[in-house]
Amino acid sequence: MDKKELINSGKVKSVFTTENEDEVIIEFRDDMTAGDGARKEVMDKKGAYNATISAKIFKVLEENGVETQFIDLPEPNVMVAKKLEMIPIEVIVRNIATGSLVRNYPIEDGKKLDPPILQMDYKDDEYHDPMLNRSLIKALEIASDEEIEILIEKALKINEVLVKFFADAGIILVDFKVEFGKDKDGNILLGDEISPDGCRLWDSETLEMLDKELFRKGKDNEVMNAYIEVYNRIIPDEEKFDV
Ligand code: C5P
Repeated sequence: MDKKELINSGKVKSVFTTENEDEVIIEFRDDMTAGDGARKEVMDKKGAYNATISAKIFKVLEENGVETQFIDLPEPNVMVAKKLEMIPIEVIVRNIATGSLVRNYPIEDGKKLDPPILQMDYKDDEYHDPMLNRSLIKALEIASDEEIEILIEKALKINEVLVKFFADAGIILVDFKVEFGKDKDGNILLGDEISPDGCRLWDSETLEMLDKELFRKGKDNEVMNAYIEVYNRIIPDEEKFDV
């Protein structure tokens, strides 16, 4: 399948139309950004690691009844996906308190959150992704009450499946962000990506960080090794790409 027209170039991914109007090609680039895109570096093969990790996670979710936009991974950094009209909400699920939660609220860093916290942020770098609530979502005409319920239900299901999936790989799923979109029939599907870019992942034994937080903290020379560690633990040898 060939790329036709570039329809969206985000901070780390480019989306192209294909000959099939219901499908897109998503190219995962080697860019890494932090601070709403204020800092940007290129990391060798990052796109391939993230696309392969994301494809694997989407397949695991599909096997567990969560519909995603994933169709195929013809190249390590190229995903064929169902075309979605994305909903501009970042749905965040937190199992352990850290990050912006402990910066903004009097809650102890590292505290277990049971039940998890579910948060919705408005996806807009210009406004620095402010937190939403139901009345804001309605006033901004982003989603209906029924759609909000679907997002919450799906995000919690994803959390349930992935906490177990990562635990089996010796990793704690601390928190993560997901995005959803509507397909041509109006069904809400998981879109975007699930990778160490948008999750906090800690080694279960050492609590060592295995995600983009390293880059946010300026540990640029450690971050790819962390991504490769996640890749090595969750991608079976026969599904690994040639490096
Ligand atoms: O920074 P904060 O603690 O709010 O992040 C919560 C989770 O959401 C983290 O896993 C982070 O990687 C993810 N996130 C993201 N994109 C954003 C904001 C948060 O992937 N714009």
